[in-house]
Amino acid sequence: MIPDNAGAILTPILVLIVGFMVDVKVGLALVLFTVFGAGQIMLMSGDKSFMAIYQAALEKMNSETVEYVRGMQVVKIFGASVNSFKALHKAIMDYSKYALNYSMSCRKPYVRFQIIFLGAIAILTPFLVLFMDLQLNPAVIAVDLIMVLFLSGVLFSGFMKIMHVSMYAYMGISAVEKLEEIFTGMQQDKLEFGTLEKFENYEIEFDNVSFGYKDEMILENLSFKLEANKSYALVGASGSGKSTIAKLISGFYKIHSGAIKIGGKSISDYSEDAITRSIAFVFQDSKLFKTSIFENVQIANPNARKEQVLKALHLAGCDELLAKFPLKDQTVIGSKGVFLSGGEKQRIAIARAILKDANIIIMDEASAAVDPENEHELQKAFKNLIKGKTVIMIAHRLSSIRAVDEVLVMEKGKIIERGNDAELMKEDSKYKYFQDLYAKANDWRVRI
Ligand SMILES: Nc1ncnc2c1ncn2[C@@H]1O[C@H](COP(=O)(O)OP(=O)(O)O)[C@@H](O)[C@H]1O
Ligand SMILES: [Mg+2]
Repeated sequence: MIPDNAGAILTPILVLIVGFMVDVKVGLALVLFTVFGAGQIMLMSGDKSFMAIYQAALEKMNSETVEYVRGMQVVKIFGASVNSFKALHKAIMDYSKYALNYSMSCRKPYVRFQIIFLGAIAILTPFLVLFMDLQLNPAVIAVDLIMVLFLSGVLFSGFMKIMHVSMYAYMGISAVEKLEEIFTGMQQDKLEFGTLEKFENYEIEFDNVSFGYKDEMILENLSFKLEANKSYALVGASGSGKSTIAKLISGFYKIHSGAIKIGGKSISDYSEDAITRSIAFVFQDSKLFKTSIFENVQIANPNARKEQVLKALHLAGCDELLAKFPLKDQTVIGSKGVFLSGGEKQRIAIARAILKDANIIIMDEASAAVDPENEHELQKAFKNLIKGKTVIMIAHRLSSIRAVDEVLVMEKGKIIERGNDAELMKEDSKYKYFQDLYAKANDWRVRI
């Protein structure tokens, strides 16, 4: 904003200087216009508190929109009613109300500014002639008048600029403040890391862990152990704390009490780099960057050679996908004509995780957004990813977790059952209940 600011401040000053250089009277007339214009602008930008309300309404509308779009899938699946739309509707109406109020509060000073400033120029100019020395050459008088008209026009547009600049400045400042607030919040919640670089092994343990995002505890005195190089699945109703556990292992948040250990030592003893290196996370919808497929995978290990990247793509089942594009792995994501399905994106994300070669793999609903036809390909990719690693899988598709070494069933932040598929299916377990329900739900789909 430096050029705009400089322009806004320098324009009136330079106009006045030029005015006085032409003629003292021209200069004085312009000073009059300046004082008047500045007064009107002060009136117009007076109400900063109003601007804050307006900004808050705008922000609310934006976040409600995002929330709505995100929830669309759920709305469709469960046939949710128009109620799900209410919050968004209210946010839009609120915003439109504040936007209108804000415009209305500016209306009077703005119109006054326009009319009087432009009107004053028109009305005052003939009077200026009276103050002029009429003995002078008429050509000089004409030049003076033209200068006043010309320079006051410049002044007018200068004032308009100041108005816009001050609005942008306000928006810029509040955006920076918001970002700083978020950043400080993140720093406060962040785990403090240590210096340890080497892991004894990759066994994971929760030792009496209590944690809550805010005051309400999500996990209370939770203890469990996951052996190294085995695969585990977390199963449970939505909101039971599965993702929370996954995030805590990666050191995303500080825990309230207890300890989370990898290889027998608290994760806060290790360096941040060591933790990042040893854990690969595959989310529901992985983020791909707007560069080539190759670079999207290579991000996981910038030192990787070309063959390594290509091998990771191969293991993740991307061969067919690459063959579709003439540029193969150099195809730029998001460029013209490059469309990837959810399953294809997910496989590129898995290639990234394979290349990273981390010892702990966490997959949180990694196949949730993938259609059943792609599921099979994805499962093959998963198999290559998890070979010989400590794996935690969270999946709604219960068919995809039957082969894990052990299933942990969660309910309200607690582990209520533990065992492999065969063991849990034999009893009258919550797990069996979930599996039966899942099978039934699939039955319904087949018959429709
Ligand atoms: N960032 C967050 N801030 C506040 N509460 C959260 C946050 N993430 C999750 N929660 C809450 O924590 C509980 C557990 O959520 P989560 O671990 O995501 O469940 P799951 O993955 O099993 O569906 C839920 O009640 C949820 O509302
Ligand atoms: Mg979750």
